[in-house]
Amino acid sequence: MGGGETPILLVGAGHMGGALIAGWRRAAAMSPKDLLIRDPSPGEAARTAAAAGAVLNGPDEGLAAARTVILGVKPQVWRGIATELAPRLAPDAVVISIMAGVKAADIAEVLPGRPIARVMPTTAAAVGEGAASIWSADPAARARARALFAPLGVVVDLDEEAQIHAATAASGSAPAYVYAVVEALEAAGVRAGLGPEAARDLSRAAVTGAAALMRTTGEDAAVLRRQVTSPAGTTEAALQVLVGGGELQALVERAVLAAARRSRELGGEG
Ligand SMILES: NC(=O)c1ccc[n+]([C@@H]2O[C@H](COP(=O)([O-])OP(=O)(O)OC[C@H]3O[C@@H](n4cnc5c(N)ncnc54)[C@H](OP(=O)(O)O)[C@@H]3O)[C@@H](O)[C@H]2O)c1
Repeated sequence: MGGGETPILLVGAGHMGGALIAGWRRAAAMSPKDLLIRDPSPGEAARTAAAAGAVLNGPDEGLAAARTVILGVKPQVWRGIATELAPRLAPDAVVISIMAGVKAADIAEVLPGRPIARVMPTTAAAVGEGAASIWSADPAARARARALFAPLGVVVDLDEEAQIHAATAASGSAPAYVYAVVEALEAAGVRAGLGPEAARDLSRAAVTGAAALMRTTGEDAAVLRRQVTSPAGTTEAALQVLVGGGELQALVERAVLAAARRSRELGGEG
């Protein structure tokens, strides 16, 4: 990265904003001194970046230097925070929102005149394994978002803003679904007779190992699934229960649609 995107002002360095900071630092994508961070209760990533030269909760006069402003606060509180910041920001700063739900048009009302991009990231950005869905009506803002998120993992361009709801439901929120599966697997391992520690170690390794294989081989999930499913074997017995009658697909679909609905509600679409 380099050129016109820095300094970057990150407003909100919680779980997601902190993951971005950690990812950029890990990838050496920018110098910490090019990062301005605003957060009343900064997490470890923000504090470590500050120790390395980032400006954490610096004076308001410094905010106008930011070429890119990332909105990483909760959708429920962003409006008040952005309204307060608006007069302090450069009139041509590019605004990138990572917030679920909040529409570009609403951001444009509060921060008028600035190009806006929306990005739906995942927390694995912290380790360079993130997935970021990007939408903007402005090609330069889209390119800016791409430049910022490419060092943090996979980047996917969306054609329409409304697709961010689906990206939120099927990607941004999805790591939590996988963690829930690991928790369920761990509990089921105990129920099947393993000690708690063995169940924890084995369920974690099963999922991280499966994910690593998927990444390193590039194979479709269906191919990898078939590779570990011998006819009439143990895995097939389990898959009969999970996917035999479409149970898992139906459950995941309901979950994803519930998240997409909530994303629309957060954006005021009801
Ligand atoms: N977590 C994810 O996996 C994920 C994935 C994709 C997108 N997102 C989006 O990322 C955004 C943040 O989510 P999160 O999970 O990171 O939430 P979070 O952990 O609560 O982080 C938000 C941070 O903003 C801080 N904040 C509050 N008021 C502020 C202000 N006036 N100025 C600057 N910072 C302020 C909060 O501090 P306090 O704790 O003191 O309020 C908190 O540290 C949300 O809009 C969410 O939709 C999250």
